[in-house]
Amino acid sequence: MADLSAIIAEIAEEMRFAEVRGKVADYIPPLASVPDTKFGIAVVMADGSLHTAGDAEEPFSVQSISKVFALTLALGAVGDQLWKRVGREPSGSAFNSIVQLETEQGIPRNPFINAGAIVVCDVLLGRLEPREAIGQLLRFVRELAGDDSIAIDETVARAEQETGFRNFALANYMRAFGNVHGSVERVLGVYFHFCALAMSCRQLALAGRFLMDGGRVGAHRVVTERRARRINALMMSCGHYDNSGDFAFRIGLPGKSGVGGGILAVAPGVASIAVWSPGLNPSGNSHLGQLALERLVQKTGWSVFEPRG
Ligand code: DON
Repeated sequence: MADLSAIIAEIAEEMRFAEVRGKVADYIPPLASVPDTKFGIAVVMADGSLHTAGDAEEPFSVQSISKVFALTLALGAVGDQLWKRVGREPSGSAFNSIVQLETEQGIPRNPFINAGAIVVCDVLLGRLEPREAIGQLLRFVRELAGDDSIAIDETVARAEQETGFRNFALANYMRAFGNVHGSVERVLGVYFHFCALAMSCRQLALAGRFLMDGGRVGAHRVVTERRARRINALMMSCGHYDNSGDFAFRIGLPGKSGVGGGILAVAPGVASIAVWSPGLNPSGNSHLGQLALERLVQKTGWSVFEPRG
């Protein structure tokens, strides 16, 4: 394999000149105003070395990628009890779809669609105040990335709140089924702040190290090996909504996307990777982010389906 820094510099260069760039999310002004010319990539290897290219230092709205960190915290709080309230199957429908909730008694298909993440927020709230639950997530990602400068963008959180009618519908519908226990306003206040977490590719790749390394960051254990394996499995099967099958087909890594154009991908035992390009495909996943990851696995052989040894 050629030098990794050279590989990702080459990928960043290709993405810089790509003509088809996808469509930037426009449901809130702070996302709509991000130029589609942005592209960043960061790779943290198992030996701790860090490789970056393009706009890897620029914070962007991680949106649904935060669902990975929220899920990790909720599993820490209630363990496997969570699976009584959230499924573990791909939904095969859009990230904000409501249709399955009616036939499935208010139990969301998985923790990475909006409905599932709203239940996760309800679990995390428990007896906490919303600002405590938000503080808990922020502390967690700061600790994972080893970077106290990570912050939540209040402008994005407010815009999410003002336009989140579908999320209000999802939360109210699940409340009617008894699968949201707390007040819908409080639960969504937490959910919208999680979506508004801002991180750079470098910070995100660093925060994903525990999923690369069997639940550990160096000597510090974040989750058990089994839990890290299971979170990776969910990212592989559900991390890109109704585009998850194609992501596995083309890239073959556990990954989680957000409508800010970021993707966190994990090559277990090998690398934690973050890419960012704000133009989205029709399923709400970064168009060039996926293409960049496809190029990376082609050049490195990092797909989990690649024969080992
Ligand atoms: O809650 C929502 O619908 C938005 N904040 C988008 C979340 C998201 O990133 C979905 N993913 N691709």
